[in-house]
Amino acid sequence: MLDTDAWWRDAVIYQVYPRSFADSDGDGMGDLPGITGRLQHLQELGIDAVWLSPFYPSPQHDAGYDVADYRGVDPRFGELGDADKLIAEAHGRGIKVIVDLVPNHTSSEHAWFQAALAAGPGSPERERYIFRSSGEEPPNSWKSVFGGSAWERLPDGDWYLHLFDVSQPDLNWDNPEVRAEFLDVLRFWLDRGVDGFRVDVAHGLVKEANLTDWTTTSTILGGLDPAGPPPPMWDQEGVHEIYQSWRRVLDEYPGGRILVAEAWVAPASRLARYVRPDEMHQAFNFPYLDAPWRPAELRAVIDETLEANDAVGATTTWVLSNHDVVRHASRLGFPVGTPRMPGIGAEDPQPDAALGLRRARAATLLMLGLPGSAYLYQGEELGLPEHTTMPDEFREDPAWERSGHAERGRDGCRVPLPWEADAPSYGFGPTDASWLPQPATWAEYALDRQQGVPGSTWELYRTALSLRREHGLGRGSVVWQEGAFAFRNGDVLVLTNFGSEAVELPSGARLLVSSEPLDGDGRIPTDVTVWAAL
Ligand code: GLC
Repeated sequence: MLDTDAWWRDAVIYQVYPRSFADSDGDGMGDLPGITGRLQHLQELGIDAVWLSPFYPSPQHDAGYDVADYRGVDPRFGELGDADKLIAEAHGRGIKVIVDLVPNHTSSEHAWFQAALAAGPGSPERERYIFRSSGEEPPNSWKSVFGGSAWERLPDGDWYLHLFDVSQPDLNWDNPEVRAEFLDVLRFWLDRGVDGFRVDVAHGLVKEANLTDWTTTSTILGGLDPAGPPPPMWDQEGVHEIYQSWRRVLDEYPGGRILVAEAWVAPASRLARYVRPDEMHQAFNFPYLDAPWRPAELRAVIDETLEANDAVGATTTWVLSNHDVVRHASRLGFPVGTPRMPGIGAEDPQPDAALGLRRARAATLLMLGLPGSAYLYQGEELGLPEHTTMPDEFREDPAWERSGHAERGRDGCRVPLPWEADAPSYGFGPTDASWLPQPATWAEYALDRQQGVPGSTWELYRTALSLRREHGLGRGSVVWQEGAFAFRNGDVLVLTNFGSEAVELPSGARLLVSSEPLDGDGRIPTDVTVWAAL
């Protein structure tokens, strides 16, 4: 069913990373009551929904993407009642709540994996995961996304597959018990009132039956070869019937509950298969996130993704930052065309911070001018940069660990938020504890330094979100204009100046907002986006 009025078609969805949003009890780790206590700010920002990264019971080897119990709340984050309160309070403020679902793998501490270890080779308990006995050598050549072999051997001789950390065994989606379990988990959270699920590694659940060797390092973070066949562990045809069965469950509930695919699949037409009318509602637009700050590439990815989604009647999404990539305020401070890196350390080349922020603000205004649904990552509304000089001893990301420290990992984008410039931990919590260190320079980014300050990044986001709603930009369309990089969306002109010279606003256009002040002659400087009413 195509629901053209559905709330999510033009929604701005804000990603909350619970560990780092707000800490109510002073242990240095964010929690659910902390989030509830700060919802007022998200309402003031003007977003439509929050997506919460995992808060379930977990040993936290992959920051909660290693789930030990899909129906609970980790004591670090609170208890089930806190989740209920958060959902109720968010709804009271007109904010929808999307939770994270991690179906590709469980934690090795999940009761099922513990039972599989205890039951031994050949047992039905092991059939819920991907166990093989292949002697001394691993069953095939697959690599973990985080580095090293994707197989781990047990003392009893069996190997199990883990496409991520060794503590994240892959589930066997050929087993009906696994399928039934996740349908039940969906209902558990739908019954509690959540408005949807962000589906982790949505392209990975089904593996090719023979587990054929795959020689290139399998990395979802680096993208896939769009020309070749899908690798045997990604984007297999069988994933689609799983999402169709989930969709049927969601459609039983009122109010438009949604599924959002985290699927690193290319090209856009192939990704669009995840959002056909009887499957998911949205998929993250990673090609957009990856596009360099150059007009030709941006225009191409905008056209390609709009076309691919239009073809299946889906809404296109846009995203610039999340908890797995270098924050765009830093990423865009590197020379244009620098490949996306999984992290930055003190010894690496450093971004140009001022240029990065300037381009990030222009990039955000451009993104929010596009029709469809946009995803924001906590802290980008403050202009937060990556923590690029984090001492290695604080790093927790298993991708850093398993790559033998070759990759910097993702901790730099996960640092706890600054709320109050002069408070301990910048108001993240009541004490100065913070699970990752906050840079000494972050007072200037604190929310209380930006509220009511014209031109601050916070006020820019607020203005943009309110104008976006007022002018119906999320429901509009892209009509490219001649000359500069500019498109018309309804009665609004969105123009980004990628050139080296300032450009004029078209005559008769009335400026609504600009990512930086115009120059003394009222012209649009380099690396600035404007919205103007036509
Ligand atoms: C997704 C998550 C990432 C996690 C991985 C394994 O890519 O976004 O944070 O490490 O899945 O669950």
